[in-house]
Amino acid sequence: MANARSGSLATILFLFMSSAALHKVVSQNLVTDNVTVVEGEMAIISCRVKNNDDSVIQLLNPNRQTIYFRDMRPLKDSRFQLVNFSDNELRVSLSNVSLSDEGRYVCQLYTDPPQEAYAEITVLIPPGNPIIEARDEVLSEGNETEMTCTAMSSKPAAIIRWMKGDKELPGKPKVELTYDKMYTVTSRLTFTVSKEDDGVPVICIVDHPAVKDFQAQKYLEVQYKPEVKIVVEFPQGLTREGENLELSCKFRGKPEPQRVNWLKVDDDVPSHAVITGADLYIENLNKSYNGTYRCVASNSIGEAYDDYTLYVYDAPTTTPKSTTATTTTTIITTTISYPEINQDTAPSTEPAAHDSRAGEGAPRTVDHAVIGGVVAVVVFAMLCLLIVLGRYFARHKGTYFTHEAKGADDAADADTAIINAEGGHTNSDEKKEYYI
Ligand SMILES: *[C@@H]1O[C@H](CO)[C@@H](O)[C@H](O)[C@H]1NC(C)=O
Ligand SMILES: *[C@@H]1O[C@H](CO)[C@@H](O)[C@H](O)[C@H]1NC(C)=O
Ligand SMILES: *[C@@H]1O[C@H](CO)[C@@H](O)[C@H](O)[C@H]1NC(C)=O
Ligand SMILES: *[C@@H]1O[C@H](CO)[C@@H](O)[C@H](O)[C@H]1NC(C)=O
Ligand SMILES: *[C@@H]1O[C@H](CO)[C@@H](O)[C@H](O)[C@H]1NC(C)=O
Ligand SMILES: *[C@@H]1O[C@H](CO)[C@@H](O)[C@H](O)[C@H]1NC(C)=O
Repeated sequence: MANARSGSLATILFLFMSSAALHKVVSQNLVTDNVTVVEGEMAIISCRVKNNDDSVIQLLNPNRQTIYFRDMRPLKDSRFQLVNFSDNELRVSLSNVSLSDEGRYVCQLYTDPPQEAYAEITVLIPPGNPIIEARDEVLSEGNETEMTCTAMSSKPAAIIRWMKGDKELPGKPKVELTYDKMYTVTSRLTFTVSKEDDGVPVICIVDHPAVKDFQAQKYLEVQYKPEVKIVVEFPQGLTREGENLELSCKFRGKPEPQRVNWLKVDDDVPSHAVITGADLYIENLNKSYNGTYRCVASNSIGEAYDDYTLYVYDAPTTTPKSTTATTTTTIITTTISYPEINQDTAPSTEPAAHDSRAGEGAPRTVDHAVIGGVVAVVVFAMLCLLIVLGRYFARHKGTYFTHEAKGADDAADADTAIINAEGGHTNSDEKKEYYI
């Protein structure tokens, strides 16, 4: 065991030393490179020698015929041309390379013994333009479809990748070797079509060393059933008795639905309802119109609908909040008159009644105007009294005026507060105590 080991070590040492010795003697070193070239283009073969001592260099073809001997070309093929010749290099070009030029070329140096180096020429043949074929021209959402992409006659075999939009999809490749030693690659892609695929390109990308950015694409055309949505054009708020209702049916689909149908679920659409195109218009709402209204659209792919549930509320009562607010906005009246107004408006407001159009110019404004006037007079009188008192107690002016100023500020706050809510109630009571 140990013997065998030391024996092999000795052999290695011997080989190492002998090769070192050989280098010392010859010290000439012939090198060349493999060449990869695209068919029809030019290949360069270079035989190089380090430290040449005038030994002859020659280049042989794969059949070992001499192409160049020094700078002379015995071979007739004029596609071979001398690019550079010196003691250290023989460089030859081969133009219009064809597949038959492939093989192992030999660089030879006439030393003793002669040296050889091998340059392998590999010819690349680009595939033909990729061709996409789709099984279905027009697709339907939800259906599976199949596409194939073919890259014909290349060397080596091409690699086919698929993209749908900017997403890569896996294909199933099949490689065929044809009689002329070419590869034809066919990749098969199957996927389930969705509505979002409409108009999206499917791209077949061919990767091959002889080509760049080689691809083909096909835009998907996907049919899908309609999408339907009902939009309330009028009213914006509650649907009240006596008002008009306008519904609009928005839809899209591919193919585009030609028309839509309006119907009422389990009932008839009111006889005086007007349907123009996709719009449903009902004048003078009545509680008996309550129900579900449905817009239906269909195309060759399918049918879809959207529902709107009509719920007719009572006609609005006529007490207008906005009107009272405008008649009583003088700062003076606010403190006392608000609690009264709140009581008035409270019963007439319905749950969730935000109807700003509610009966303008209602009869009750007269009462409020009268009350407001009376209150204004009373408060004005009290103010005058206060001013007189204030002057009378001139020495304590500071405290009195601050009280009054505070009251005025609070009143302004209460005003806005009461329009929104009823928070100012207690505030105004407190103020009442101040003044009396
Ligand atoms: C040249 O190609 C041959 C055959 O493909 C290979 O064996 C050799 O290692 C290559 N030489 C170089 C320097 O790449
Ligand atoms: C030939 O090769 C030599 C040395 O490698 C270089 O100096 C010279 O420029 C080359 N000539 C041509 C024409 O390429
Ligand atoms: C290149 O070679 C092919 C045959 O291999 C030939 O048909 C073609 O004419 C050649 N082209 C040139 C520019 O020499
Ligand atoms: C899509 O699939 C449905 C059932 O899955 C089928 O009836 C229909 O013919 C298919 N459409 C196409 C265009 O293949
Ligand atoms: C609502 O319709 C009923 C009959 O269906 C009718 O008696 C009633 O007066 C209508 N109400 C209004 C406000 O038009
Ligand atoms: C319609 O809805 C209203 C609620 O505002 C209800 O009072 C009325 O009874 C409903 N009428 C029908 C016919 O369902």
